[in-house]
Amino acid sequence: MTTAFHLLQDPRKNKGTAFTKEERDKHGLNGLLPNVIETLDTQVLRATAQVDEFEKPINKYIYLMQLLEINETLFFKTVMSNPAKYLPLVYTPTVGEACEAFGHIMRSPRGLYISIKDKHRIKEILQNWYDKDVRFAVVTDGERILGLGDLGVCGMGIPIGKLCLYTTCAGVPPELTLPITLDVGTNNKKFLDDPLYPGLRQRRVGGQEYDDFVFEFVHAIKEVFPKICIQWEDFRGDEAIEIMHKYDDVLCSFNDDIEGTAAVATGGLLAACHYSGKALTDQKFLFLGAGAAATGIANLLALKMQLIGASKEEAFSRFFMFDINGLLTTNRKDLQDFQLPFAKDLEDNRNFADAIMQIKPTAIIGVSTVGGAFNEQVVSNMAQLNERPIIFPYSNPTSHAECSAEQAITWTKGKCIFASGSPFAPVNYKGKTFVPGQGNNVYIFPAMGLAIYATEAKKVTDKMFIVAAEALATQVTREHFEKGLIYPPINTILEVSVNIAIRIADEIFDSNLAGVPRPSNLEQFIRSKMYQPMYK
Ligand code: NAI
Repeated sequence: MTTAFHLLQDPRKNKGTAFTKEERDKHGLNGLLPNVIETLDTQVLRATAQVDEFEKPINKYIYLMQLLEINETLFFKTVMSNPAKYLPLVYTPTVGEACEAFGHIMRSPRGLYISIKDKHRIKEILQNWYDKDVRFAVVTDGERILGLGDLGVCGMGIPIGKLCLYTTCAGVPPELTLPITLDVGTNNKKFLDDPLYPGLRQRRVGGQEYDDFVFEFVHAIKEVFPKICIQWEDFRGDEAIEIMHKYDDVLCSFNDDIEGTAAVATGGLLAACHYSGKALTDQKFLFLGAGAAATGIANLLALKMQLIGASKEEAFSRFFMFDINGLLTTNRKDLQDFQLPFAKDLEDNRNFADAIMQIKPTAIIGVSTVGGAFNEQVVSNMAQLNERPIIFPYSNPTSHAECSAEQAITWTKGKCIFASGSPFAPVNYKGKTFVPGQGNNVYIFPAMGLAIYATEAKKVTDKMFIVAAEALATQVTREHFEKGLIYPPINTILEVSVNIAIRIADEIFDSNLAGVPRPSNLEQFIRSKMYQPMYK
């Protein structure tokens, strides 16, 4: 029999003051709670008031994470009541600060921590998890957390936050999700010297030992949770690309930093092209940063261009990249394989503002982690060359954004089409209010999760990301675009995700990748699978 203690301590079963009189009598809860019997809505009012009491976002974050540990239903009901308010607290930008302080603010660790010391017993550790039917694991090794670098085991804030968004933004049932950190050490000196660092106190393991560890993990998780889909998250760029390809055929997996980012950027650009009247194949893209995110976005855009008729050569001729050592040219000897398709037969150039005048792009996309890199000269050059320059400072968190919304709007005299990785407040320019759009992956991965879970998809393909991007773009109205938005308002995220998930699911059935028969009514089927934050 479930005891009163277990009911009050289990975040999934706990209803707090909402336990009914019958439940209180049945489980011996009388006296353990105040006499009042409240509704979930009243509890949301209290939780909201308590969040609002805190001034600093990090304290709001700590409160919300504790609420999740106490009462899961109340947490999701609260967060889902106002996604625009809570998403920046549960995820970026606050989660960046939370990860940096993870060892200090940690209350009750959530998720699974698998250390390199546990190799050869990973299966046993996975079997320790409370739930036996896990469908989504967000997995990180903490090496490149947002734009913040190596945070080791403290990167766990990211899988926890992302999985909260699967539920908040697309209704993926929380009991099917599992945050995992692979602890292979850290090269972060500050953490290694910090007595409160909660991970392995050693430098990162690399090479064959690392590869063997990931290999064992992948095969163990597939065995323990056969329907698992892994979202690889915040691995170092080259590592991320290698892992993404290596295990593609072993289990259903994707890399959100690469494929999710690519789809959200593509969705925004498709909307921008539609409303600005310039075809995708007529755009010329210059990326600042040539890592996982940049090449992921460019590869997906190139695929989309080919699907609408461009040849591969034509498509790739539209992409230029600039990294820490300057423009990617065929003269460069330091390029990695995944960067080679973007190297151009051009003069070397180490000045980004000059490169703009040399290449004459219609769009600049910042995925460099270098805050302020889109300076006034850079942005003015874009405005000089284009009627509607596309300016996307995508680096996270806010302190690493290549420019702010206000800077882009002011320096282009209100002409730019803008989206950023981190959120910016509305900008008033010469009497007109611009609402900056956030190219947040949250428009893609929760919907992808919902579609994969509902259809029990066996694989994640590029085409599924293209379809997701298209479905996202079609939900941007002219009214949104006129306000400056190239993404739908974040408060509509649940409906946006459902619409995207339906399109992805359709694609999954069309490509024979589903593990269940095609239902007669896809929308009804998808909706029937969604989590509702309510007491049972
Ligand atoms: P990465 O480490 O793979 O690539 C970073 C790239 O930036 C490298 O090519 C590096 O050479 C270049 N770079 C570094 N310093 C530079 C400098 N001073 N000048 C020019 N280039 C420089 O990292 P990844 O995964 O590509 O992520 C990059 C950024 O994009 C991060 O800040 C991340 O938070 C952000 N991002 C944003 C997303 C979104 O908002 N939707 C999604 C994914 C990533």
